[in-house]
Amino acid sequence: MNIRRTKLKKIVLATAIIFAITFLFLENAMAVHTGWFAPDETASLKNPFISEKGAGAEGKKIYDKNCAKCHGLSGKGEGESAGSLQIELPDFSNKEVSMVESDGEWFWKIRTGQFEMPPFQLILKDDEVWKAIVHIRTLGK
Ligand code: HEC
Repeated sequence: MNIRRTKLKKIVLATAIIFAITFLFLENAMAVHTGWFAPDETASLKNPFISEKGAGAEGKKIYDKNCAKCHGLSGKGEGESAGSLQIELPDFSNKEVSMVESDGEWFWKIRTGQFEMPPFQLILKDDEVWKAIVHIRTLGK
């Protein structure tokens, strides 16, 4: 009888642990955002500064001031505020990540924002957003 009780206790405990782990895992998985898409029509918007001399350098200043605290100077997501974010930051230094979306889609995302990515449409001028993108594109090289 006693042995049976101990066994039962163990089963109950094991079940509780499995539930706890599953819950923690699910909560984490839900916090990592994976499906943020810009509207289709933004994909073909062209960056007016992409081949303008000096745009990258100006973009770097804008990026370092407004974006690096989360995304990091290198774009890897190592900014000082990154640790407190629930959402995983994209790695701009990884070409496979940074080349998936067009400048137009990023322009839309940066202006619109979502959850922990702040909307910059009232903070930065359109030109500044485009220039910041010119700079981000250099981080993946
Ligand atoms: C407070 C932290 C924070 C700041 C500041 C910030 N970002 Fe973000 N950014 C995020 C987070 C978090 C995401 C991921 C959002 C998601 O996937 O839902 C993100 C996503 C992005 C994306 C989308 C990448 C993709 O492939 O989907 C771009 C582009 C971007 N940020 C550029 C910028 C630029 C440019 C600036 C500065 C003008 C900036 N961010 C400032 C937190 C930040």
